[in-house]
Amino acid sequence: MNQESGGTESGGAVEREATGSRLAVVIMAAGKGTRLKSRRPKVLHEIGGMPLLSHVIAAAGKIVAPADIYVVIGHQAERVRVAVEASGVRFVEQVEQRGTGHAIQCAQAAIEGYENVLVLSGDVPLIRPETIEQVWNFHRSEQAAMTILTAAPEDPTGYGRVLRRSPDAPEVEAIVEQKALAPDQQAIREINSGIYAFRTAALLSHLNKLTSNNTQRELYLTDMASLLRTAGERVVAIQAAEAAEVLGANTIAELIALDATLRRATASRLMACGVTIFQPDTCVIDATVEIEPDTVIEPFVQLLGRTKIGADCQIRSYSVIENCTLGDGVLLRQGCILTESRVGDGAKIGPYAHLRPGSDIGQDAHVGNFVETKKTRLGKGSKANHLTYLGDTEVGEGTNIGAGVITCNYDGVHKHPTHIGNGVFVGSDSTLVAPITVNDGVYIGAGSCITKDVPAGALAVARTRQITKEGWATARRALQETKK
Ligand code: UD1
Ligand code: CA
Repeated sequence: MNQESGGTESGGAVEREATGSRLAVVIMAAGKGTRLKSRRPKVLHEIGGMPLLSHVIAAAGKIVAPADIYVVIGHQAERVRVAVEASGVRFVEQVEQRGTGHAIQCAQAAIEGYENVLVLSGDVPLIRPETIEQVWNFHRSEQAAMTILTAAPEDPTGYGRVLRRSPDAPEVEAIVEQKALAPDQQAIREINSGIYAFRTAALLSHLNKLTSNNTQRELYLTDMASLLRTAGERVVAIQAAEAAEVLGANTIAELIALDATLRRATASRLMACGVTIFQPDTCVIDATVEIEPDTVIEPFVQLLGRTKIGADCQIRSYSVIENCTLGDGVLLRQGCILTESRVGDGAKIGPYAHLRPGSDIGQDAHVGNFVETKKTRLGKGSKANHLTYLGDTEVGEGTNIGAGVITCNYDGVHKHPTHIGNGVFVGSDSTLVAPITVNDGVYIGAGSCITKDVPAGALAVARTRQITKEGWATARRALQETKK
């Protein structure tokens, strides 16, 4: 046997020899996912805000370099490729999907040069790199031709079962798919996770012996266990401590269960770091979100994508925050929607505020009820507290934007900028027709329609003068009385 001499590990990654790589990872991701009843390929369905396949690639990337990861694509291959190619992995095409064994046959040329190969399933996304490494270490210490990662979930229905030579022996005789289980095999709880390590030479010398002599008329990779055994090769199994980690996503219900597991883990991780999350099961928090200690998240909050939240913030119920950065001590009142925006320390937002992409709310600034901002910078301590639209606008520091103020930034064809200086007071219900500049210290009378730039320190009023006719209403009512 041409065996590994017990490779060295450092920092959780397997060190590779300077001359060529010893270990490749193949991720099977060509299947259609018929049981999902979806037009989207299975491996692009998301849990925790990320495609299944991206989770698996991320785990594999902790073991080998991206260039040693081969993703087998087939069903909607281009769509899958485009979705994950930024990770730097390589691709192998399986034009017709004739089973998991056939998927590996398609990767034959790619893996020939490697001594060993780890096979992962694109639809088993919760697998942790530590567990993959355990499989790899066990594979080497057992000097095996094939090592199978197994688990013992509560309900093994639907999975292939692992037949050990004896209950405590590592040696495996065969993997039997659910549909082929004999009556006395139904009780076996140890399942095949769909994650394996192979010595490449042993795999490749028997891979073409697979037959589609089964109910699915497919080439099963699982049949390699009995094939290699029969050839006198060593086939062993190692059981994962946590079955939840190796569960697959074949149906929407299974997908949602994995999503819940992942989000519960994310919430637990954040809480362990000092973040308070009330009713975590009602919150949707992506694995990519970062939150500093002493921040409080109320029920029914969604924190998505690359969102970062500072310390001592309060995120009240029903807010949805996507790809935003919030400083320390931010108060986000109920029902706010924030997308691709930044909020400075101590700012108060909402309730019911909408920060659209490119909003930059300064330190201690206030954005209140039913205020919408887009590509707008609100300076330190400035306030827009009620019913306002600010688009393509720069607002200086200590400026007050009155209730109902609107920047008219769009002429039907182009967008135009509005500049408002420091210490400005914009009276309620004013409209500012862009492009326009309102300089420092200006006062704008309520109800003005401002169409010309206003110099610093000036008062601008642009509204029709009030007419008051004394006694007019009383006289009118008296007249109406006489007509009755
Ligand atoms: C497979 C195993 C089963 C195991 C389970 C664990 C086989 C025959 N069965 O069953 O023993 O318990 O995984 O989750 O392997 N794929 C391809 N090309 C194909 C077919 C599938 O790339 O031609 C990919 C799929 O995209 C998927 C993975 O291989 O990511 C597994 O395929 P799937 O059809 O889901 O296998 P299971 O029925 O779950
Ligand atoms: Ca599966």
